[in-house]
Amino acid sequence: MVVNILKTLIINGSPRENGNCATLTKEMIKYLKGEVKIINTYYDDISPCTDCRYCWENNGCSINDEMQEVYKLFDEVDNVIIASPIYFSELTGKLLSFASRLQYFYSSRYIRKDSNFRLKRKNSILILTGGGDGSIKPAIERANIIFRHINAQQIGIVLSLKTNEVQANKDDDALNNAKELALKLNKLSS
Ligand SMILES: Cc1cc2nc3c(=O)[nH]c(=O)nc-3n(C[C@H](O)[C@H](O)[C@H](O)COP(=O)(O)O)c2cc1C
Repeated sequence: MVVNILKTLIINGSPRENGNCATLTKEMIKYLKGEVKIINTYYDDISPCTDCRYCWENNGCSINDEMQEVYKLFDEVDNVIIASPIYFSELTGKLLSFASRLQYFYSSRYIRKDSNFRLKRKNSILILTGGGDGSIKPAIERANIIFRHINAQQIGIVLSLKTNEVQANKDDDALNNAKELALKLNKLSS
């Protein structure tokens, strides 16, 4: 019998190893079934897109780094979780730098118009943490663009704001939301 193991890819846009995004992703991991792979955009070997336009003509990306494995994962996993602190109302620059490499998928669809291009449909969650309670709309909009590029449907957001006053590890609403959304991902993929 072949058993399909649920797989989740977490893309962490925070530089803080034990920061608020880490707290909330760990809370989700506690409840998520199956395998989890974490990409740390600050520390993993993934360069930004250089707009070399290789993917305008070829089925792939010319930059030979860890992203080559991540491209494959985007066609294998059931869930994608993006976690980011709010920086200037946006996702962090490192997360956007990572996301620039998704240009290969965009190019396959809209520039090369490759009729054989397929990416597995996935569910996704966005985790956002902010020191204050200012605008987060740009971050949500940008994350939704990333989810579209990877053929993922956003099914929920975990939000922990005013972390300058209360860190995410004491934010019961955010912790509970993280747990509930992890359980929802399990249910949707079962
Ligand atoms: C460069 C920089 C820009 C920031 N900009 C914002 C902002 O626009 N809005 C906000 O609420 N918090 C802002 N913050 C605070 C972080 O979002 C907040 O501390 C967050 O909880 C950190 O998450 P982490 O511990 O997962 O890295 C900023 C922090 C830094 C370092």
